[in-house]
Amino acid sequence: MNLVNVAADPSTVVPAGATAETVTEVQHYTDALFRFRITRPASFRFRSGEFVMIGLMVGEKPVFRAYSIASPSWDEELEFFSIKVQDGPLTQHLQKIRPGDTVLMKKKPTGTLVNDALVPGKRVYMFSTGTGFAPFASLIRDPETYEKFEEVIVTHTCRNVADLAYSRELVAAIKEDPLIGELAADKLKLFTSTTREPYETMGRITTLIENGELFEKLGVPPLDPAVDRAMICGSMAMLKDTKVLLEERGLTEGANNKPAEFVIERAFVG
Ligand code: A2P
Repeated sequence: MNLVNVAADPSTVVPAGATAETVTEVQHYTDALFRFRITRPASFRFRSGEFVMIGLMVGEKPVFRAYSIASPSWDEELEFFSIKVQDGPLTQHLQKIRPGDTVLMKKKPTGTLVNDALVPGKRVYMFSTGTGFAPFASLIRDPETYEKFEEVIVTHTCRNVADLAYSRELVAAIKEDPLIGELAADKLKLFTSTTREPYETMGRITTLIENGELFEKLGVPPLDPAVDRAMICGSMAMLKDTKVLLEERGLTEGANNKPAEFVIERAFVG
């Protein structure tokens, strides 16, 4: 690999195709989840909902993983929502970052969870589990999402109540935001559920779609391919099972070059 040393911190080796960014903020939610923000290179452009490769030098080797950008495209900084895996090749180190530290980022963002990959509709569902909420944290802060849809319903399902802190705090903050709050006020709805700890709504999102509890609680009609659009981000099993339910209800999967009624991000499943 062609290694070029151009970081502000001269001890950081920056692999070709990457830039060295500075951590500006870190917030830990649980022993398995945290959020961090980094500087954004002036030339870095992306569409809300896309992902990028984030990494660290581990010894002499760069270790990169795909991360959804959780901040919207207009934000001056970049935000990410991450798990902490105690023996994870990247996250065992990444979970220790502090403001001022250097994080590596590759220059090319990409992804399918973008507004352009959906045909116009009335209502968009963003179905997420765990850190799969991240791309939606970007999209629900983008005015374009509210221009395109009358209703924006984000669902976030996790094992425990504490795992929902990021989505619940973010949506509350969006409603108070001077910029996006007015747009989101009547359109944005967050639906949360847990699967392993008592909470106001319990159950996997797939179960709640199947038994209709999701639609009942939101006060909306069942999924209808004429008006409803969807994006899905979660574990491999969750993507697969949710996709089946959407297809059974008449929605078809789209992509960047072929917009349709729903899209899936497969970048994070291994
Ligand atoms: P469960 O607790 O029933 O496994 P994880 O932390 O394992 O990534 O899971 C995040 C959330 O996704 C959990 O609430 C989990 O529920 C749920 N989940 C796991 N597999 C599926 C699936 N196939 N369909 C829908 N939700 C799922």
